[in-house]
Amino acid sequence: MTQNLSINADRLYKSLDTLGAIGRYHDARLELYGVNRLALTAGDAEGRRHVVEKMRALGLTVTIDRIGNVYARRRGHDDTLRPVMIGSHIDSVPTAGRFDGCLGVLGGLEIVAALNDAGFTTRRPLVVAFFTDEEGCRFGTDMLGSAVATGRIALDAAYGLKDRDGFLVRDELAKIGFLGDANEHLTAPPHAYVECHIEQGPILRAKGVDIGVVEGVQAISWHEVTIVGKSAHAGTTPMNLRADAGVAAARINLKLREMIASGAYGAEMRATMGAITPSPGLVNIVPGRVVASVDLRNPDDAAMKRAEADIITFYGDVARDERVEVTWRQTARTPVVPFSKSVQARVAAAAARRGLSSAAIISGAGHDAQEMAHITTAGMVFVPGEYDGISHNPREFSTREQCANGVNVLFDVALSFADEGGAP
Ligand code: GLV
Ligand code: MN
Ligand code: MN
Repeated sequence: MTQNLSINADRLYKSLDTLGAIGRYHDARLELYGVNRLALTAGDAEGRRHVVEKMRALGLTVTIDRIGNVYARRRGHDDTLRPVMIGSHIDSVPTAGRFDGCLGVLGGLEIVAALNDAGFTTRRPLVVAFFTDEEGCRFGTDMLGSAVATGRIALDAAYGLKDRDGFLVRDELAKIGFLGDANEHLTAPPHAYVECHIEQGPILRAKGVDIGVVEGVQAISWHEVTIVGKSAHAGTTPMNLRADAGVAAARINLKLREMIASGAYGAEMRATMGAITPSPGLVNIVPGRVVASVDLRNPDDAAMKRAEADIITFYGDVARDERVEVTWRQTARTPVVPFSKSVQARVAAAAARRGLSSAAIISGAGHDAQEMAHITTAGMVFVPGEYDGISHNPREFSTREQCANGVNVLFDVALSFADEGGAP
């Protein structure tokens, strides 16, 4: 019987639209609506309240933990067995579309709705979760909630993170009403964790493949680099007397390009200086200070380590050459995380059973599933995206069918784990 269950594609797509209307803004240049639900802002709070209401309307029991992660539980036939967890995030980057993270959470709730419609109770309980601040844009550390839940980041360290204006994670959680009291540690890990997500890249769409079988997530390394030179008059200060923090930042950015072009770190290395903030940031003043971010990605741990060592050496070279001071701190770092072979096999088999094509893929983006993989059997289902899979951009778009295919595969995989007996 469970093999025949499918989700309601229209209802799923409509729920993505409804959540996507929360935090909506108009991007005049793109002539598109985007989504801004930056973690722990009023927009995030409204999105959270909407999803929690939806969870309760589906008959789920909602728990909020001390880092603001939200878990919604559906009883199983054998309710003492550990649950199967389906999750992702609903916070967004400030210039988002409506699919990143939301597909996994609303997909999980659509699975619950389909089970309710069919009057079907799984053997193990099911939990649909959304985790706090997956994006890391505001407080500097990605996968924050899931990393706390799985023990990689201590609660106090997470509480102490500040945004650019000095607001603390703990205070902001309290302010939006999501500082829960449940233990933040998943001390009894779920039986399995599965997540459906848009690919956020061009590969599946270019290959014409319906489903990505995610093999794992590449390594991620983030630095916050602070460069201090000397602010001075742009018209009168001779070039040889300058300590220009802006030039130093530009040289680091170009060095990243050179490193990639060298091929020395593998063909898949990526590097981005996404945030560059000069001070005082005025037309006729040599910038005396720059705070910049460096984002490195690599599917090979050894190559990532070499790249990190080389860019850190270069920070010193630039400091000397440009007569500035360069300091840096690591704000996020995760190694390559492989996903469970068992989940991968089930995703491929479910796709085949449903007549969908599939291909193995490595995730370029970070995901909550990579944190869960440290404590349980975990894996992901990817769906293709249109417009070269563009993401972190209002143009992010997957069709109704692409989304439904991914969630139906997620459904099959979740049910297959939920049917398993054995130890709790
Ligand atoms: C999360 O979206 C990331 O930066 O990979
Ligand atoms: Mn995401
Ligand atoms: Mn994202």
